Amino acid sequence: MENNNHIYPIFDRMLGREEKEELLKQRGLMIWFTGLSGSGKSTIAIALERELHKRGLLCRILDGDNIRSGINNNLGFSEADRVENIRRISEVSKLFVDTGIITIAAFISPNNDIRKMAADIIGVDDFIEVYISTPLEECERRDVKGLYAKARKGEIANFTGITSPFEAPENPALSLDTSVLSLEDAVNILLDTVLGRIKK
Ligand code: ADX
Repeated sequence: MENNNHIYPIFDRMLGREEKEELLKQRGLMIWFTGLSGSGKSTIAIALERELHKRGLLCRILDGDNIRSGINNNLGFSEADRVENIRRISEVSKLFVDTGIITIAAFISPNNDIRKMAADIIGVDDFIEVYISTPLEECERRDVKGLYAKARKGEIANFTGITSPFEAPENPALSLDTSVLSLEDAVNILLDTVLGRIKK
């Protein structure tokens, strides 16, 4: 084992979250979307970011496109890799939140343990869990990426909802089912929930 005894803590010399939030005139917050593949997490994240941006609020989206193709491109979909995926995402998100940025994550994050880990790393007071509760049948009917069909044919192992479990959150701050809500309605509900916590 290497030891880290010679890493010098420099955090006490850095500007803190409060100074960053003052600069940005906003409060940092984690908005964490969980739900099945194809449930609408990324679509809602993108629409929400645009609405917040229009209001002069700085956001950062983390989703599969920028995380699984970059920092996490060495991870697959075993239970252990999913935990590591979410752990790294949470550590990165924490840095954004500590910079006063509204951080929006869109990952399946398929069980309570994984989501609790994320909330614990980021800090429960800064963490809003949003369950995109679109039913499996609807996600599979949409099959935007063609992955459900492949999973049914046995071409993808451990596919969430088919051959790998998805555990619904027990107490999400919000549940949004995109099979009954329009994108605009979903974003308006989110804005009602988050704006009061963001604005300084
Ligand atoms: S998580 O479970 O680790 O949170 P994540 O959100 O990063 O998953 O990635 C899910 C995306 O990866 C899906 O939307 C889909 O496009 C793709 N994917 C590829 N293989 C799988 C799989 N076996 N299970 C779920 N999603 C998969």
